[in-house]
Amino acid sequence: MGVGRVRPVVSGLAAYRPGKGAKQAEAEHGITDAIKLASNENPYSPPASVLKAIQDAAAGVNRYSDHGAAALRSKLAGWLGVEADCIAVGCGSSGLLQQVCVAYVEAGDEVVTPWRSFEAYPIFVALTGGDLVTVPLTEDHRIDLGTVAGAIGPKTKAIMLATPNNPTGLALSTAEIASFMNNVPTDVLVVVDEAYREFSDPSLGDPVQDLIGRFPNVVVTRTFSKAYGLAGLRTGYAVADPGVIEQLDKVLLAFSVNFLAQVGAIAALDSLDEIQILVDSLLAERSRVVDGLRDLGADFPDPQGNFVWLPIGERTDEVALALEQRGVVVRPFSGEGIRVTIGSPEENDRFLATFADVTS
Ligand SMILES: Cc1ncc(COP(=O)(O)O)c(C=O)c1O
Repeated sequence: MGVGRVRPVVSGLAAYRPGKGAKQAEAEHGITDAIKLASNENPYSPPASVLKAIQDAAAGVNRYSDHGAAALRSKLAGWLGVEADCIAVGCGSSGLLQQVCVAYVEAGDEVVTPWRSFEAYPIFVALTGGDLVTVPLTEDHRIDLGTVAGAIGPKTKAIMLATPNNPTGLALSTAEIASFMNNVPTDVLVVVDEAYREFSDPSLGDPVQDLIGRFPNVVVTRTFSKAYGLAGLRTGYAVADPGVIEQLDKVLLAFSVNFLAQVGAIAALDSLDEIQILVDSLLAERSRVVDGLRDLGADFPDPQGNFVWLPIGERTDEVALALEQRGVVVRPFSGEGIRVTIGSPEENDRFLATFADVTS
């Protein structure tokens, strides 16, 4: 028996499982030189201008950050062309997704999501005492918004749509989401989780431009963790109707968007051209990995994020272990498939060669 009287929802909760690190794999398998392609991180450090801004700000960490992140909000507002009161800043976009659950979901309420999707959703919903209602993806790994709409009931408070979806990598268009909105009651929030937006096809539309303003119950979440290479600093933002933003702000843990996180995000927005160069190089690498895998006969959906989903079903654990023993750490979802993050050119070469080796 544990100490204290833990809430049953917490004692019954499986801990969030982050991607295995290279060092851990090295220790487990007695190898050296492992690479981690397991957490959809950016393999590149942020541009020098962003690093300098963070370094210059480091001496100021004796002070609390600006809890309201006013400078970052106003910069985001100008960039996105929305009012500053339509933007919330959070501790990564995970923080904002948790804030949505804390602010809107009570015990007995339901949150609907296609599944498989981002592994933090079940945790955030369980913590509120609410129930996650999962809707299966289609055979070809897509989100079927018709089935999602069919799962909405009187207890539904929110719908989580990751686009591009993690781990399957396919994205929804804003036209599809807009037509789905006709089937969603106006008092149900639709969270469009765009953690990987910067890697997806721009012709799919921009939810901030196309949906915010038109549908007051849409919340778009985005992050500086992926394309901007600031995962370790934890900054994300949400764009929504001011009435929703006001509630999200109330449940933000004080100062959890730390000072360096705010400085780094502002500097990143000042360095968009340099960041785009890094994103473009990752997109070129993604094409190369896709071609390499297709040459090997692999069958998988066209990726729209900085990762590839290989639905290898029952072979998942065996292939993931074989890759890991050879120093290539990917993210297995037992019985379903492996998710492989696009890394640096050297890392991708190594993955392709090792994958060919273990699957031949
Ligand atoms: C779909 C999705 N949403 C949100 C996040 C959260 O990212 P962060 O909290 O770093 O912004 C992730 C991270 O992997 C993700 O895959």
